[in-house]
Amino acid sequence: MLEKMKATFSKGNVWCEADSMVIAAFAEKDGDCLIKDREYYLFDTGLQTAFLILRATELGLVAHPIAGYSPQLVREILGIPDTMQVITLVNVGKHSETISPALSPKQVEQETHRPERLPLEQVAFFNRYPAPAPEGSIA
Ligand SMILES: Cc1cc2nc3c(=O)[nH]c(=O)nc-3n(C[C@H](O)[C@H](O)[C@H](O)COP(=O)(O)O)c2cc1C
Repeated sequence: MLEKMKATFSKGNVWCEADSMVIAAFAEKDGDCLIKDREYYLFDTGLQTAFLILRATELGLVAHPIAGYSPQLVREILGIPDTMQVITLVNVGKHSETISPALSPKQVEQETHRPERLPLEQVAFFNRYPAPAPEGSIA
């Protein structure tokens, strides 16, 4: 099954081929809270996936979610009905001391340096969402 799942990965995800386990996270819109146009199944799947990744980390493993795979192939291999959205595959393995030769130079860079994060003030706002800067002003 593991080998079959690896065949669903996109080209850029060759690094996942050393995985020990692939976990498919899937859900359907009508199986979860729906309030008018607010669909919570994606949010809830993200929540459970985050906890799964935290637990894997706590166990000393490495877990990465990916979006680069064929959802149709995943459905076929795992027998998941078409009504379900395959939202992510979480790739779980042990941390390796050596960098795989399958990685591109960009992936090696990403593996060895933490990506820069957006500053907090760009993603969290106190009291009110900021008004756009007046036209012609310099940000
Ligand atoms: C929704 C989503 C899809 C992702 N898809 C891929 C992917 O297909 N290939 C990949 O190499 N990384 C992908 N990533 C990024 C990695 O899983 C990354 O390791 C993870 O976001 C945590 O790394 P960071 O904390 O350094 O950002 C994806 C991340 C997210 C959140």
